[in-house]
Amino acid sequence: MAVCNAPQLTAMCSTFNGLHTEKAASGCATNVQSSAFLGTRLAHMKQTSMLARANQAESGRFASYAPPRAQSVAAPAETKKSEASKKTSTQSTVIITGASSGLGLATAQALARTGEWHVIMACRDFLKAERAAKSAGMPKGSYTVMHLDLASLESVKQFVDNFRRSGRPLDVLVCNAAVYFPTEKQPRFSAEGIELSVATNHLGHFYLARLLLEDLQHKKTDTNRRLIIVGSITGNTNTLAGNIPPKANLGDLRGLAGGLNGVQSSAMIDGGEFDGAKAYKDSKVCNMLTMQEFHRRYHKQTGITFASLYPGCIATTGLFREHIPLFRTLFPPFQKYITKGYVSEEESGKRLAQVVSDPKMTKSGVYWSWNNDSNSFENQLSEEASDADKALKLWEISEKLLELD
Ligand SMILES: NC(=O)c1ccc[n+]([C@@H]2O[C@H](COP(=O)([O-])OP(=O)(O)OC[C@H]3O[C@@H](n4cnc5c(N)ncnc54)[C@H](OP(=O)(O)O)[C@@H]3O)[C@@H](O)[C@H]2O)c1
Repeated sequence: MAVCNAPQLTAMCSTFNGLHTEKAASGCATNVQSSAFLGTRLAHMKQTSMLARANQAESGRFASYAPPRAQSVAAPAETKKSEASKKTSTQSTVIITGASSGLGLATAQALARTGEWHVIMACRDFLKAERAAKSAGMPKGSYTVMHLDLASLESVKQFVDNFRRSGRPLDVLVCNAAVYFPTEKQPRFSAEGIELSVATNHLGHFYLARLLLEDLQHKKTDTNRRLIIVGSITGNTNTLAGNIPPKANLGDLRGLAGGLNGVQSSAMIDGGEFDGAKAYKDSKVCNMLTMQEFHRRYHKQTGITFASLYPGCIATTGLFREHIPLFRTLFPPFQKYITKGYVSEEESGKRLAQVVSDPKMTKSGVYWSWNNDSNSFENQLSEEASDADKALKLWEISEKLLELD
């Protein structure tokens, strides 16, 4: 088991102090060297695709590919169909990915509580999500759990099919789920052999959002449709938090263009050496660039509001589950009592719920943040996270990888 040494703790403290003093006020970051956060698997939908072929040509790690679990858990979503359909005319529908814990669950809870929203909890672990909804006191009928594994493109496709079968008109899609592998020395790969952080956090959501864009354009209700992709301060190098090494940097995206498979290409987007913490930060830059590219391409034409946000540092969530135990113990009190940058899961859920439903937050192309008084403001993205040329290139490469063009 990894041990947190003195320099690491010092670095962690300076990181937290830095976060507290930055513009977003309730900032959060971790020292990349001492923490590794995210990781997941993403499976490709087309077995004959370029990626699948490349993977099949590969050895060992692809042999352990297990089919996505969507088939086995699709039924429970269907059993709630008739109950859900009854409420369709009175409630708006929001899909939240990764609603089984943390920010996603708190947001689902906040929206379900209003009685005005039906929440589709799009989760990879059906039972965990069902239990989480119950323990959060979400009223029966206010939610439906549907299986989604963002690390499998086949699962993403099946999720979209299942959702369409429910007959609900979609009002808001929240791309929230993420994985973080801060201490990982070697990359993990999705079923198609794509580095897991980017496969889950960016490509799985990119595919999901591309498919559901059509559903957001229905004419059945006149609600303000929104597509929200959760960002992070850690991907923004115009902040103190974002300046803690390793900094996010997509470079010229050569690694992504090569498929992030760690064989023919690097597992990192910029083509460099694998670093789990940087892979997470890079994926969050992708999230923020993707939101803006959606805005440029589709806002005028569709009226859909595209937004991103930094919800604050939610030090208690499962995002840090792969971090060393000492970090997980110290991080919440450090944020709470030293930096005062701590944001509770409940508060973060209210913030994201605002972006979902507040009539004052319909402006498209915005990256929202909150100050210490929990007032929202339009925050500035870093130079890279607002680079329109890079956003276009990212879009095109992602399309090519997913064979969407
Ligand atoms: N925590 C923070 O301080 C912070 C700060 C800034 C931004 N954020 C962002 O907030 C969002 C939520 O993170 P969190 O802090 O709430 O962490 P969390 O509690 O770990 O929630 C992440 C969720 O993503 C789900 N997930 C992971 N891999 C998945 C996959 N392959 N398919 C479907 N779902 C998957 C997890 O499902 P399981 O329950 O099955 O694992 C979990 O429900 C992320 O986008 C993160 O980048 C967090």
